This record gives sequence, C-alpha cells and structure tokens, in this order.
Amino acid sequence: MKTTTTIDKIAGFVDREVTLSGWLYNKRESKKLQFLQIRDGTGIIQAIVSIKDVDEETWSAGQSLTQESSLYITGTVSKHPKRDEYELQVKSGGINIIQVTEDYPITPKDHGTGYLFEHRHLWLRSQKPWALLRIRSEVIQAIRTFFYEDGYLAFDSPMFTPSAVEGTTTLFNVDYFGETAFLTQSGQLYGEAGAMAHRKIVVFGPTFRAEKSKTRRHLTEFWMIEPEVAFFDLEDNFELMERMTMYVIEWVLDKCRKELEILERDTSLLEKIKLPFIRMHYDDAVKELNELRKKAGINEEFEWGGDLGSPDETMLTEAHENPIFLHHFPREIKAFYMAPDPDDERVSLSVDMLAPEGYGEIIGGGQRADDEKYVIEQIKKHDLPQEAFEWFLDLRRYGTNPHGGFGLGLERLVAWLAGVQSIRGCIPFPRTIEKVYP
Ligand code: 4AD
Ligand code: MG
Repeated sequence: MKTTTTIDKIAGFVDREVTLSGWLYNKRESKKLQFLQIRDGTGIIQAIVSIKDVDEETWSAGQSLTQESSLYITGTVSKHPKRDEYELQVKSGGINIIQVTEDYPITPKDHGTGYLFEHRHLWLRSQKPWALLRIRSEVIQAIRTFFYEDGYLAFDSPMFTPSAVEGTTTLFNVDYFGETAFLTQSGQLYGEAGAMAHRKIVVFGPTFRAEKSKTRRHLTEFWMIEPEVAFFDLEDNFELMERMTMYVIEWVLDKCRKELEILERDTSLLEKIKLPFIRMHYDDAVKELNELRKKAGINEEFEWGGDLGSPDETMLTEAHENPIFLHHFPREIKAFYMAPDPDDERVSLSVDMLAPEGYGEIIGGGQRADDEKYVIEQIKKHDLPQEAFEWFLDLRRYGTNPHGGFGLGLERLVAWLAGVQSIRGCIPFPRTIEKVYP
C-alpha cells in the first residue's frame, strides 16, 4: 500500500515509498535525468526521474509537465548525506497528472511588482509570498498565545460604527439603511467598554482607513491588535509592549527560520534586541532629530509641536538598535481621547513604538482621558458629534479610572520582522487607494 503524506512531514519517510500531491514549481532536465521541483503547499521537494529507472510513459509524463501542472507523484524518499534536504526517486508509473497547465502567467523570470499584485491570487504560490504569509500566520498565533497566557479576554469590536476614532479625514462611509455608518478605524473605544467589564481585553480584527497616500506603510484595510486594560498607566503600557514584542520576536526566530532564510532576512538584527527598549520623551526626540538632520545636511529644523513624518521616523530608528518608545506627544497632534499630562499641560500621556532599521511606528497607544468634562471638551474641539459618543462618555460617568492600551499594526510588525520594504506583501490581498482587485 502506498503512503500519502506532505512535504513538511517527509523526514519521517526516509527509504520509504510515498505519494505526494502538488504542483510542478520548476524543472531542469537533461537527456537522462529530470529534476522536478514539486511544491505541495507545505514545502518544496526535488523529485528525480531517471531514464534508466522508469518506463517510457513515466519519462514522457515528466517531460510534459509545465509550471503549475497538478499531479500525484510516487517515489522513494532519500536524505541528503549532510544537509536536512530530501529527495524523491520517482518510480515507474509514479507520475499521475491531473492537469498540464498552459501559459502560467508568473514565470521564474523577474516581473514588476505592479504585474505581480495584479496576479496576487497566483503570486501567493511563489516562494517569497509563501514565506511571508507563513510568518504573518505565526505572528498572529504568537500574539494570540501571548495575550491568552497573560489572562486577556478576546473581545471583538464592531466593524460598523457611528463614530470616528482616529480623525474624520480617513473615514469610509457606508449607507446603513438610509443612515451613515462608518467602517471602524480602531476597536479601541469598544475595547475600553470591554476593559471595564473584564479588566484586560484584547481586540483583534480588521480596521479601515481611507488613506489617500500611497506609501509603503499604509493600507486602507489592515489588521490591528488592541489590548485595553483598566487601572493601567503609561509605565504599565511600556512594560506590556516590551514583553509582547520580545515574545513575538522569539517566537518568530524559533518557528520561522526557513521562511526568514527564503526572505534573506538578517536575523542578527532581531537577535540583538534587548530589554529595556529606549524611552524617549518627545522633547528629547525633537533635539535628537535636529542633530540627525544637521548631520544629514538638512537645514530645516524639526519644530516642537510637529508630528514626525516617515523620513523623521526612518532617521531616528536607523540610529538605534532597539525599538523606541516615543512618549508624551503634544496634545494638539494626538486624538481626542488621549489623557493630558497632569504635570505638563502641553503634552499627552501618549506613546508610539518605533521599530528599528528605519521601520518606524508600528504601535500607537497611551493612557486614556478619564474625566468626562475633559473628554466632552476634546470631542467639541475635534469637531466630533457628541451624540455619537454618549455611550463612550458613560464609561467616564460610571466608575471611571485611569486606563489605557495600544494598537499594534499587524502588517507593519510583520514587515519589520520579515525585513521586507513594503507592508503590501504582508497581507494576502492588500487594499490601497488604487487597489481593490483581485
Ligand atoms: O496610531 P493609530 O492610529 O492608533 C489607534 O488607532 C489607536 N486607537 C490604537 C489604540 O490605542 N487602541 O494606529 C495604530 C497602529 C499604528 O501604529 C500602525 O502600526 C497601524 O496601526 N496603522 C496602519 N497600518 C497600516 N496601514 C495604515 N493605514 C495604518 N494606520 C495605522
Ligand atoms: Mg499613530
């Protein structure tokens, strides 16, 4: 009886005959040998067809295989004498073709990224996208496990909402039975309600922003991990971000070696990261940015009160090996819900975590304003309709307390850990201002 298995389990089948099911990824052939790269979704293996070992039919079946042809293939597993690599010696009758594929659009030659994203549904099968999305899956698993083990309740926030969280310029409107609803920009406000019921919760889901900019850091649909905790201050928040980040780094280094290798990630940069992360007050960031700008020959000063642009974050994070907690941003540039600093009215109890190597912001969070009057004032100041926030104000009316949390952008985290330039490849089907197909 033949054994069927998958490539990820092949190590357990050395010297045995197995049948694999998959697709032809690539092939090389000479007069006497065919080297078939077979992928089955779990990995790639080289299958060898030798003219002296197989009948004519099998040999010509091997010859007829084109890229992405689907087949069953049977042979004996052997292991490379030194490396952890396996091969399949194909036997007579061992190639059973389901479909010979014609004109597969993605060939081993280089295609432009525009073309590749047009064919994203197929490009997913190529090695680099395959590796990157496996890392994404591991990152999700690591984060879920971290919060579960730390006693957090999984709390799902709605996608249709009556209110803006992160400013009105990036809202997607939806016709909701004749009323306007918005797609959620962040689950935070609902997470706050959850924290008052369960103390420690974590929201994990898609979020939507009508980002008009085309940058390698912005999507219109991205996934966010948002823990929220009652009775929780800024220092607690730093500590949570540090522990979570270290946990995920270690998980990925442990479980994604092969994927990181496929992506040619320099993992030493991740291995160097140590606790504690850098704590940098906004005032000090301004000073450091101005020194860095001077060194880079940029004459224009970064003025106190401004938000950091991508080039600023890049410059700052390239100067440090560890992630940076940039904290106490000016109140003016932060969202309506940020707690003011009781000791310095210019600034808020906010924090962004910036990833090294130029990656920049991957987390935004802070302590929440917990005083009803102050929150109403801020809602007015930000030109938001108070009616839509009455439920949220109830959280300040009934048992208010210092609380906080953060939002971690999943695709940005994956891009950093995997060492890829753009976050677009860090989600199966990226959505941007110019892209909703496929
Ligand atoms: O800094 P942001 O806007 O913070 C919030 O939404 C808070 N309400 C979160 C909270 O405290 N619960 O977004 C959080 C993170 C950013 O640091 C970034 O990583 C990611 O979400 N992000 C995006 N990722 C991809 N594309 C976009 N357009 C993004 N906008 C934000
Ligand atoms: Mg932010």
